Amino acid sequence: MKLIFVLLLTSSLILASEDKKTKIQPRIYGGYRAKPYTVLYIVGIVLAESFTSSLEFGAGTVISNQWVLTVGTLLKYRFLELHLGSRRAWWGYKIARIYKENYYIHPNKLHDVGLIKCPYMKFSDRLHRARIPPIPVRDDRYVGNLTLICGWGKRDRQSKLEKWLQCIHVVIMSNEECAKIYPQLRTWNVCTSGEGEKGICEGDIGGPVVTISDRPILVGIIHILSGCKGSWPSIHIRTSDHLNWIRSKSNVYFDSFFGR
Ligand SMILES: *[C@@H]1O[C@H](CO)[C@@H](O)[C@H](O)[C@H]1NC(C)=O
Repeated sequence: MKLIFVLLLTSSLILASEDKKTKIQPRIYGGYRAKPYTVLYIVGIVLAESFTSSLEFGAGTVISNQWVLTVGTLLKYRFLELHLGSRRAWWGYKIARIYKENYYIHPNKLHDVGLIKCPYMKFSDRLHRARIPPIPVRDDRYVGNLTLICGWGKRDRQSKLEKWLQCIHVVIMSNEECAKIYPQLRTWNVCTSGEGEKGICEGDIGGPVVTISDRPILVGIIHILSGCKGSWPSIHIRTSDHLNWIRSKSNVYFDSFFGR
């Protein structure tokens, strides 16, 4: 049954990319193709209200052997499909169908954080996690730090879906600076600069924003589309501000910067 479902979704995906009614939205723009076996924590998410409705796409991040962190807005239908450990769009090294009972959504809709409980995922050279911020450094705002943001999909509204994972390197801005452009910014958001015409778009929603350093940290969850072109900053949900909630649902946390 699972196999049949997967085939249905992927064959309708090919049709969907030609279909005007589809809800596919442009994703990472200004990016480069990810190198093999480098972005092991990203998860492709495919959802549809029913077998006959158009597909919707998003992403998530593996944060432990059993949990994927994403946005709450993707957790709206009876089930979804996770594509794990792949650079090639929607051809996961592992594909899992997850039902609603395994969705955990932040009670405050404005925070838009969601967790997906998964069957045990064994880590390997194809699939790994990204670390959420350790509790002792939860107040770090990472202003000026370089991040890696990846996603699948279109470069602009007119192009076809990307076949390969696209990535950009962008710097974190202060919330003060970002709020000059987006007055609706919340304290629990984090912005990345659009300098060099690099950014995210609505199909990237739920995906990872990870610092580039010896010990990469998942600082953000891609959230709101931000123009989808030009040099506008991209807005994400700040992981640091949801550590208690994440811990309460999943028991995933790090109590030291170098521990576990
Ligand atoms: C952020 O940038 C500072 C200053 O360059 C650096 O010391 C720190 O290690 C960076 N943090 C991360 C998580 O990349």
